[in-house]
Amino acid sequence: MTDPVTTPRLEIRNITRVFEGREVVSDVSLTVMPGQVTCLLGPSGCGKSTTLRIIAGVDMQDTGEIYVDGNLVCDTQFRVPPERRSIGLMFQDFALFPHLSVEDNVAFGIKGDKSNKRARVRELLEKVDLLRAIDKYPHELSGGEQQRIALARALAPRPSIMLMDEPFSGLDERLKDDIRDSTLDVLKAENTAVLLVTHEPHEAMRMADEIALMRDGKIVQQGAPYNIYNAPVDRQAAAFFSDINVIRGTVRNMAVTTAFGEFLCPPRPDGTEVEIVIRPQHLRIDFDRDGRGPNPTPQDGAPARAIVERARFMGRESLVEFRMDFDGSMLKATVPSVFLPKTGTPMWLMMRRDRCFVFPVAS
Ligand SMILES: Nc1ncnc2c1ncn2[C@@H]1O[C@H](COP(=O)(O)OP(=O)(O)O)[C@@H](O)[C@H]1O
Ligand SMILES: [Mg+2]
Repeated sequence: MTDPVTTPRLEIRNITRVFEGREVVSDVSLTVMPGQVTCLLGPSGCGKSTTLRIIAGVDMQDTGEIYVDGNLVCDTQFRVPPERRSIGLMFQDFALFPHLSVEDNVAFGIKGDKSNKRARVRELLEKVDLLRAIDKYPHELSGGEQQRIALARALAPRPSIMLMDEPFSGLDERLKDDIRDSTLDVLKAENTAVLLVTHEPHEAMRMADEIALMRDGKIVQQGAPYNIYNAPVDRQAAAFFSDINVIRGTVRNMAVTTAFGEFLCPPRPDGTEVEIVIRPQHLRIDFDRDGRGPNPTPQDGAPARAIVERARFMGRESLVEFRMDFDGSMLKATVPSVFLPKTGTPMWLMMRRDRCFVFPVAS
């Protein structure tokens, strides 16, 4: 007996897919628990859709296994056909059947008698707040409404797991966040497990319980959005979520000397090239007081003097670029609301030590 609470709705183990001699998906393993949204996040071309197509059963892996609710649905010999995998699909072009009414579109995949079907359709249309559109046809609906109908249609047969491939990318930018939130509400209310593919970090952060960060066919990091953002595995992982500053240095006596004083890098031997990474919003800015800056603190280390090179108003925040007195390098800082110092203004920067990541330079 498998325990429904601890058994993943979806588990894939060591999935690999080779196209024309190139490993497009490399040894990917993932689990999605009931009621959980896992985002497969990564740049275009990294192998996300291929992974999803394999899970859906429309493509076949070269190695690895797929389990739904603890049952093997596919390895390299055995294969449950796509329609019997209890998997719901929602892709970018969520084409509804144009000649069918909303009711018939949503009812399409439901088995059972007419009254059961009708009740399930009404229940879902209520959840997506479109019961009033039950007799309409797709062309009578807006893009956002069509998306909600497509969601209802995919959920109608009560799939164990929903696979969604960039499902919001065709929508108007202004509508996206609202639609993401309402989609999430519906998915949670149905207690479906979701594997959502996206290349947008903002979308992943907004929707995911768990993010699997993918690059060149591999999952490079997996965890809660908070952890992925605040403890990236490498410089690229940090850079995927925001602009970053990178300060390079060489380890001497277990420390790197920077404009902000010494950075301890304990386990690394002398001569190691390292990169200290900090996001622009984690640099603190202070004023110049006749050539002096703020006092050093244990949290922020020593301040460093810099000259404003450029300041730009970005709406919610301003982006200020600085040239460091120390070595002429450039650093960017974002500050909330409007703060637009003039070019040439001397200022002092501080780096929150707890927000810095130190990585060895990839050779
Ligand atoms: N059927 C195929 N034959 C050959 N190469 C493919 C095929 N499908 C995808 N690819 C290649 O595999 C890589 C990953 O594609 P894909 O999974 O669509 O990436 P993503 O969804 O992350 O943008 C790309 O380089 C793509 O060109
Ligand atoms: Mg894709």
